[in-house]
Parts: sequence; structure tokens; C-alpha cells
Amino acid sequence: MLLDQHARVHTYLRISLTDSCNFRCSYCMPDEDIETMPSSHLMQIDEIETIAKKFVQLGVTKIRLTGGEPMVRKDFAEIIERLSCLPVELTLTTNGILVDKYIDVFKKNGIKSLNVSLDTLQEDVFFKLTKRNQFKKVKENILLLLKEGFRVKINVVALNGIIENELLDFVSLTKDLPLHVRFIEFMPFAGNLWNKEKVMTAKKMIGIIEQKFDIIKIKDLPHDTAKKYKVTDHLGTFAFITTMSENFCDSCNRMRITADGKMKNCLFGKDELDLLGQLRQGKDIESVIRLSLHKKSKALGGQFSNEYEQADASKIENRSMIRIGG
Ligand code: GTP
Ligand code: 5AD
Ligand code: SF4
Repeated sequence: MLLDQHARVHTYLRISLTDSCNFRCSYCMPDEDIETMPSSHLMQIDEIETIAKKFVQLGVTKIRLTGGEPMVRKDFAEIIERLSCLPVELTLTTNGILVDKYIDVFKKNGIKSLNVSLDTLQEDVFFKLTKRNQFKKVKENILLLLKEGFRVKINVVALNGIIENELLDFVSLTKDLPLHVRFIEFMPFAGNLWNKEKVMTAKKMIGIIEQKFDIIKIKDLPHDTAKKYKVTDHLGTFAFITTMSENFCDSCNRMRITADGKMKNCLFGKDELDLLGQLRQGKDIESVIRLSLHKKSKALGGQFSNEYEQADASKIENRSMIRIGG
């Protein structure tokens, strides 16, 4: 069992496969093009498998693959095949652009759900945000996933100045489609030009949605990042990930491995321990995993009202989101 000092049991591992991405979302990566890691620094497929197996032995029951964009890795299909042999719920978070290419791999290997990032329903805004003209393709791929019976969550980073024009359209989308839309409060990471004026809190979003729709709260699962709601007669749901305004650290069950094999015990923590280095030296990684968890803070999320209120985004020492994987 993987316990930290605050009696939280850790069963959910997020593995970043790469820090490369085929999109250029400003909230996720520094404005100027960043250099990606040399491939020798990345975990190789056998190493990913060995590390994942160790975590499963220690009690992990859910693995989420992240990036950058996980599907840009050339050996992505093989990674899915290998990890799908483990007794875990295997899933991924993606920008959706390569879904059609790999849909058969997902079906064959028992993947049941995907989280797809989509921050706008306007083609021109999509281009501004991602620097890529791929709105139609992402939308088609989301519909393809639904048609094939996958459970699909849509991650919408709620950027003030953009989201107010989109909120109601996203909620309307859940009327006839069984989609789960999640509005995420914009978080600060190195180089992502965060400032508090760009954050729209869940409270404010709920206020806007309530004026137009009859909504009900639905029950959340114990380790959910999202607080779920539903319009009474809609097929899908919508939710808020209150990363800035209200932390959900009490029930945290998550651990992260960066693409270069560093263990992060918290999304917001600077702490990183070199699992891959230890593995490459032929040493046991369990002690490093346990040490990392032992150092995990009780809560680092949701500090909008104190530390982050004064935060200077240029001084943030955490990696950029593209290098953590969310
Ligand atoms: P599910 O497993 O489907 O519940 O997804 P998830 O919310 O755990 O993962 P996803 O990759 O879809 O991330 C959605 C948003 O939640 C992103 O902005 C993440 O950065 C954020 N998020 C995910 N895990 C954590 C976490 O442990 N702490 C905080 N503060 N935010 C998180
Ligand atoms: N704040 C909130 N969410 C973010 N994501 C990426 N960067 C940020 C940020 N700065 C989201 C992406 C993706 C998920 C892994 O994290 O939209 O869906
Ligand atoms: Fe867990 Fe850290 Fe996220 Fe809180 S901020 S939920 S402790 S990863």
C-alpha cells in the first residue's frame, strides 16, 4: 500500500510519455518554442513497463497516460499494448487530434474512457489558443469516440475573456451528447503567463450557468478532481475542477512520473525524485517511491486566496504543464 504521512492511500498514477506536443496552447507551455527533452532522457518502453509494474505491485489500480500529447510518441501503440496487460484501469488525456489513428488500439486493449482537451467551440478561437487549425478534426474525433461507445470527458481550461462566451454553448452540448464537460480553473505554471485576472472561478461560472439552465448537483466519487452537475433533462454532465479556489487535496490519491522519469508527489510541488536514474543504475525504486510519498505536503492546491493571490507568474519554479502532464 502506498501511504503518505497524511493517511492518504495512493492508487492513481499519471505517467507522462513525452514533453512534445503537436499543439501550442499558451496556458500549457512557455510562449516561445521550448526545447523538448533529448530522447535518451525519456523513459524507454521497457522502463515505463518496469516502473508501472512496480507501482501496480504497490497498490496502483489506475494509470493515466499524459504528455505533452501522449499519442505523438512513435511507440505509443506498443506502450498501450504492454500496459493494458496490467490489472489496472488504463486511460489517457489527449488533445484528441490523433484519436482516429489509434481508436482500434484503444478498442483492442480495453480502454474505455478518454479525457480530451477542448477549450472552445469556435474555430477561430481554437486557432488562437492552439496555433493549429484543427478544430474540425478534434470535434470529429470526439464524436467518433462517442459513436464507438467510449466515455468522454472534455477538459476546458476556463480562461477569463474567452470562457464567458463559451460556457453556455458547452453546457448546451451536453443536451444530446453523453459528454462530461469539465471547466478547469486556470493554474500557474512556469512560462504560461498566468495572472489572477485570467482565472474564472467555479463560483462565477455556476452563477452564469444558473441564469440560463435548471441545474442539479450530482454525487462525486471520493477521489474526483471535479465537482459534477447536470442540467435536469440533459444527457451529459458538466463539472468544475476548482484547482485555484478550493483544493481537493484531502482525498488526493495521485502520483506523477514525468517523461524523464522523475516522480512528482504533487502537481504543484517542486519536489522531484529521480526514479529513472535509480532504475538505470540497477537499484530498487520502491524506496524512492516511498520517500517521495513521505515528503508529500498535506495541501498545495487551491491557494487562490493567499499565496497565489500575490503570485508573480514569472517566479514560478514548477515545470511548465507540458513537462508535467497535468
Ligand atoms: P479523471 O481521472 O477522469 O478524474 O481525470 P483527472 O481530472 O484526474 O485528469 P485530467 O488529466 O483530465 O486532468 C484534468 C485537470 O485536472 C487538469 O487541469 C489537471 O491538471 C487537473 N488535475 C489532475 N490531477 C490533479 C491533482 O492531483 N491536483 C490538482 N490540483 N489538479 C489536478
Ligand atoms: N491550468 C489548468 N489546466 C491546464 N491544463 C493544461 N494547462 C493547464 C493550466 N495551466 C489541462 C489541459 C489538459 C489537462 C491535463 O490539463 O487542458 O486537459
Ligand atoms: Fe494532490 Fe497536490 Fe493536486 Fe492537492 S495539489 S490534489 S495534493 S496533487
